Order: sequence, then C-alpha cells, then structure tokens
Amino acid sequence: MAASIINGKGIAQEIRSEVKAEIEILKESRGLTPGLAVVLIGNDPASAIYVKNKEVACEEVGISTRTFHLPTDVSEEQVVELITSLNKSGLYHGILTQLPFPPHINDSNVIDHLDPAKDVDGLHPYNFGLLAAGTPRFIAATPYGVQQMLIRTGNDPAGKHVVVCGRSNIVGKPLSMLFSQKQAGSNATVTLCHSNTKDLGYFTKQADILVVAIGSPEVINADMVKEGAVVIDVGINRIDDDNRKRGYRLVGDVAFSDVSEVASAITPVPGGVGPMTIAMLLVNTVAAAKSSID
Ligand code: GUN
Repeated sequence: MAASIINGKGIAQEIRSEVKAEIEILKESRGLTPGLAVVLIGNDPASAIYVKNKEVACEEVGISTRTFHLPTDVSEEQVVELITSLNKSGLYHGILTQLPFPPHINDSNVIDHLDPAKDVDGLHPYNFGLLAAGTPRFIAATPYGVQQMLIRTGNDPAGKHVVVCGRSNIVGKPLSMLFSQKQAGSNATVTLCHSNTKDLGYFTKQADILVVAIGSPEVINADMVKEGAVVIDVGINRIDDDNRKRGYRLVGDVAFSDVSEVASAITPVPGGVGPMTIAMLLVNTVAAAKSSID
C-alpha cells in the first residue's frame, strides 16, 4: 500500500488563515492586538530558525511579536528577571521560552516563573496539571498540532490505539495525556513508549496511529508498523549530506520511504508536523489574548 502524504504545510496554512480572520475581528471589535514575546538564549542554529519562522508566522496573521535574544552566558537570574517583567507587560499575552536552554540554565525553574495565563507553550506545571486533570487551557503546540492534523484528515483518534514513542514534557507526555482525554478529538487507547521500553517494535506494530518523537534519525522501519497505520513523525534530524549545498538534509524519526509502503497515511519531514507546531502557537496566543480581556 502506498501511503497518502499528510500535508502539514497545507493544513497549517488553513489554520493560519482562520487565525488571521479571527485577529482581524478582534482588532476591529475589541481593539485588541495579540502579542507574543519569544525568549531566545544563545546561538543554537536550529532554535534561531524556529524563532525566525515563528516571527514570520506572527507577522503574517497580525500578532505583534518581539524576540528577546539573550547571550549564551546570561545568568538564570537575568532570565527570570526578564520573564517577570514580561509577565507584567500589557503588550504580550503569550510568552514562549525557546528550548533547549544552555546547560547552566535550569529550564524548569525558568518555566515555573512564567505566568500560567501567558504560558502559550503549555509547559508550566499548572497548565500541565490542567491537561492531566482533563480540563486543558494551553496544550503544548506540537501535541495540539498533531491532534489537529489527525482530525482534519479524517483520522479521528477516538477508539483507536495510539502509540506514542518519546516521553518529553514538550511532546510525548502531553500527547499521551491529550489523546486519553474523554472528549472529541481524543478518546483513544494510549500506549506511551520511551527509551527504556523493551522491544519497541512489539508496541509500535500494534498502533492504529503511531506518533514518533524520539529524536533519532529513521529509527522506525517498516517492520515496526502495522499495515494501514497512520504514522505521524515529529522528529527533525540533521544528517550529513555532501550532495546538499548546506552539507546536510533533514530526516524524521521514521524511515519515510519504507514505512510509506505499509502505512495508510504518513507525515513528511520537513512539511509535516513542524508547520503545525507554529500554527498552534498562534492559536494559543490568540486564546491567551482573548482570555486577558474576557
Ligand atoms: N524547541 C523546539 N520546539 C519547541 C517548542 O515547540 N516550544 C519551545 N518552547 N521550544 C521548542
């Protein structure tokens, strides 16, 4: 079976158009321009690209955005000071702390200082707890994007066996909580696999929907996927490629061409989950702006 390709770029564009229309109405009817502050520390090239893409997307839909770029050797105290002042600012309804931080900065401590009402990444323990309790406010953008991709391609997770590979706080863990919610767009049976899972293939092969967020290139091969499964690849890995001008190419955590032979639908890398993450950040920012006046 040749899988259909899930066009994340196209679905993300559709969502961005919806967000843009909503912002136009907000500006007109309530005089509100949603604002997003991005905190970027250091010079990680991948983070710089992600942040640039977020800025472009914000501008396209009418969100006012500013990136606060701090040097690699900034102290944790200085980062917390910036977060505290952004919490108080009336200009920014959302704050995103671009991860990863340099090793001397404790991510959890910084995230704990975010105002949960501005935590559009859904990383603050309060928002994490709301999701776990079944009353989510902000859902981390990547899990939220994966859910929208499935819903909008007619692959509702309800009643399906969703197998998630990876237990990070930003993707795997919130995804497993999201898909086990008792509500539309979720209601799945969820298995969460991780680096200590014995015989990963045994579990992945049982998935109706397989979501992979491991962070290693092409580890999921065709033998690990059930015929007809829907495969969502969250991984973005750089691998050396002398045939490319830039010296590398991007691949996912899934061996795309082999797995395409057994899956019924699959996301490409790039052009799959990546654009969805940005689109859902915009959705969360508008939600934060609206709740600031409601
Ligand atoms: N780094 C890579 N992806 C993300 C994301 O979605 N949010 C944050 N905060 N950092 C990231």
